[in-house]
Amino acid sequence: LPDPDVVALTGPDVADLLPRPIEETDKYRRGVVGIVAGSDRFTGAAVLCVAGALRAGVGMVRFASTAEPVRYVRTRWPEAVTTVLDGTEPDPVGKIGRVQAWVLGPGMGTDERAHALARAVLATDEPVIVDADGVTLAARDPSLLRRSAPTVITPHAGELSRLLGVPRDRIEARKLEHARRAAAELGVTVLLKGMTTLVAEEDRPVRVNTTGTPWLATGGTGDVLSGIIGALLSAGLPGYEAASCGAYLHGRAALLAVHGGAEAGAEGPIAALDVAEALPEAI
Ligand code: APR
Ligand code: MG
Repeated sequence: LPDPDVVALTGPDVADLLPRPIEETDKYRRGVVGIVAGSDRFTGAAVLCVAGALRAGVGMVRFASTAEPVRYVRTRWPEAVTTVLDGTEPDPVGKIGRVQAWVLGPGMGTDERAHALARAVLATDEPVIVDADGVTLAARDPSLLRRSAPTVITPHAGELSRLLGVPRDRIEARKLEHARRAAAELGVTVLLKGMTTLVAEEDRPVRVNTTGTPWLATGGTGDVLSGIIGALLSAGLPGYEAASCGAYLHGRAALLAVHGGAEAGAEGPIAALDVAEALPEAI
């Protein structure tokens, strides 16, 4: 029997929820997102995350990381305002500047420098979407997720496995149950990625995403998704809406990229940046 506590979001639902600029708007009112991502070893995650936020229509990106990812982001995305952090700053968040929401984690590593930065971002009163290495850090230090502002986490099954201490295959066999359990136990919005993407939040029905394609199973697409969700949070969408609309748009953009201008039915591979580039058409 269909589970009444599982619902799908339709295209018109997403269109109704998506923020669109009014004539009198400005970049600050459209949303400023702080992106803390990348490390000297993982520069690509940073570039892809910024791509997702910018193509999702954010007002401004403030990007902060070590020197190498900052260099790559500045080169690919001159739109972003960047800050180099060496890990010794007493107040890294103050150095980055005012934002309305944060993306924390893609490629940032899990060393002491990353941990200190995660602690500083999660201590703010703004909404945060925590992905990838940010989730791994939270698995190691559960106090990180104890906060009052809205928090979204976007683990794949392996990352949720670390967070819940449950083997990955058990999570994959019972995704709905574990997404709900993580949302209840951690008090956050959980977007569990994979072949089927679920969004769970306590006292809300689980939203199952209906867009996407197996061609999304390629390195870096998750980093684009976290940037999209950060953009939507910074525009004022609540965590549950930002996560489920973000997943919908990400999957829709992937479908547009996979089919390109090709005849009906034809499809071909995509790289993560293609998903970001197709976002304006998806929106
Ligand atoms: N069908 C549809 N969508 C899929 C499928 C599938 N079979 N497999 C994966 N996806 C989608 C997921 O739902 C998600 O949106 O592709 C995206 C993959 O995201 P991640 O798992 O985060 O992968 P990636 O972007 O490569 O992550 C980069 O961060 O999470 C860490 O360990 C990860 O180092 C890696 C880095
Ligand atoms: Mg990932």
